[in-house]
Amino acid sequence: MAATKTYLTGIQTSGMPHLGNYIGAIRPALEAAREHDSMYFLADYHSLNSVRDPAKLRHDVRSVAATWLACGLDPERTVLYRQSSVPEVFELATVLGAVTAKGLMNRAHAYKAARDRNAEAGVEDLDAGVNMGLFNYPVLMAADILVMEADIVPVGRDQRQHIEYTADIAGSFNHLYGAGYAFPVPEGAFPEGESSLLPGIDGRKMSKSYDNHIPLFLPENRLKKLVRRIPTDSTPVEDPKDPDTSAVFQLLEHFADADRTAAVRKRLEAGGMGWGELKNELFDVLNGIFGPMRERYDALMEPDSELDAILEDGAERARARARATMAKVRSAIGIA
Ligand code: TRP
Repeated sequence: MAATKTYLTGIQTSGMPHLGNYIGAIRPALEAAREHDSMYFLADYHSLNSVRDPAKLRHDVRSVAATWLACGLDPERTVLYRQSSVPEVFELATVLGAVTAKGLMNRAHAYKAARDRNAEAGVEDLDAGVNMGLFNYPVLMAADILVMEADIVPVGRDQRQHIEYTADIAGSFNHLYGAGYAFPVPEGAFPEGESSLLPGIDGRKMSKSYDNHIPLFLPENRLKKLVRRIPTDSTPVEDPKDPDTSAVFQLLEHFADADRTAAVRKRLEAGGMGWGELKNELFDVLNGIFGPMRERYDALMEPDSELDAILEDGAERARARARATMAKVRSAIGIA
């Protein structure tokens, strides 16, 4: 029988996740974490490339960790840690840099996109505004993954190239040093389409970049306000309605249980249920799910909560694993 596979993923630490992130990333990841050996880390050194405000960086890392815990991540089962707590990641990044072709990095999507933006704006130096952190991003990500000897990396589709690069880089290392040590070559696990279609409060796909998102943990009155802003047509209360054309109903479908959804569908189709009442229903469902989580989140965000101890414990377990990998790597490459 094959050894159990290790699932690992890095979580970006840019602000509070929203309902779309919950359906698309957090909920499936929590389900996976119940079934597999898993390691989730907060990619704070990746964030350093764009976040220059120390207070914000510190806050975002705690906030994202608190969010995952409040949503039900079990820190006993899943190793939850900060990337920055594991210095072996950065040591391995240096080693991997020595076996990675620069040309590979030249072709990385994020780097190419930055150059394209400069070209479009008529900026002569296409590397203007590109720092080495952005250029090296794929190498650091490979180090995140390989240092833990991860097998499966669940990520969004936009991360596919990064996983391919990681496999490539592992291949180069294994080719050169395989006699001493070889990394397991990881695979990506990508979500099925569907869930990314969660509508935002303007009816378009929910996304921070459209500023149409509903953050996970809002005070009740703000949540109610956002739900009220979702556009609806002017069909009168008593008229029959097509639930599937309504963004409010689509949101409800993702969060209410099947019975409740079916009952609402029936009432809309029969006529007699207005959009206002549907919005109350959606608010009620969201508040029922996220209200209790929000209390947990707020408690974890208190300055002396158990959050820091949880992250410290995760860091110790992650480091033990990373140290073991680095010992093998060092011996394989000839660094005592
Ligand atoms: N690049 C990933 C993202 O943008 C975050 C990340 C950093 C990551 N390191 C990782 C994901 C390692 C998986 C494995 O979402």
